[in-house]
Amino acid sequence: MFNEESFFEKYASYFLKGTGFTILLAIVGVFFGAILGAILAIMKISANKLLKIIATVYIEYVRGTPLLVQIFLVFFGTNVIGLDLSALASSLIALSLNSAAYVAEIVRAGINAVDVGQMESARSLGMNKFQAMKLIIMPQAIKNILPALGNEFVTVIKESSVVSVVGVSELMFQAGVVQGASFKPFIPIVIASIIYFILTFGLSRVLGVAERRLGAND
Ligand code: ARG
Repeated sequence: MFNEESFFEKYASYFLKGTGFTILLAIVGVFFGAILGAILAIMKISANKLLKIIATVYIEYVRGTPLLVQIFLVFFGTNVIGLDLSALASSLIALSLNSAAYVAEIVRAGINAVDVGQMESARSLGMNKFQAMKLIIMPQAIKNILPALGNEFVTVIKESSVVSVVGVSELMFQAGVVQGASFKPFIPIVIASIIYFILTFGLSRVLGVAERRLGAND
């Protein structure tokens, strides 16, 4: 069928480069997604009606439209307003903006999962709302939030494959390049799938261990 030795020798660098971009997209996407997501979550649980509405509309809109469409929106939208961003920069922005909406819900749910009695007890001990949030609620909420953030990282590794549509040379794009160069449609996709699986499964294992350590502190 094909000479495996030479196939891998010939195309290994394509997959390596693609994997590097995939990891970069996921790390940057989740990093900025987490920061913006935390801000959105605070806005959403705040008493300020306007902030609440802005956060809610953002979260619902982002979660209610496909990532594929959002990538095109950022890619062409930035161009329309006169910014000349590369496909990579547009994709990093789109992934971060997308992830933020999901992280916002993770953070909000993590905070809401802490028993209301905790807030009431803290307040009855004389803490103000901010102190109670910082000293009592957040340390407990973080145990709900961190594992879910890990899952979000796994999701973004997979979802980053969508940015191949604007030509970012991540793993799926590189698999396409190898398909074209080798005239083999199937094997490059198999290799890409195996690499994605190694990344996500490996990360899940690491997260599982971290989660158990977190739980051990209870
Ligand atoms: N594939 C879905 C979409 O296109 C899910 C995106 C999930 N994103 C995330 N950051 N968890 O909308």
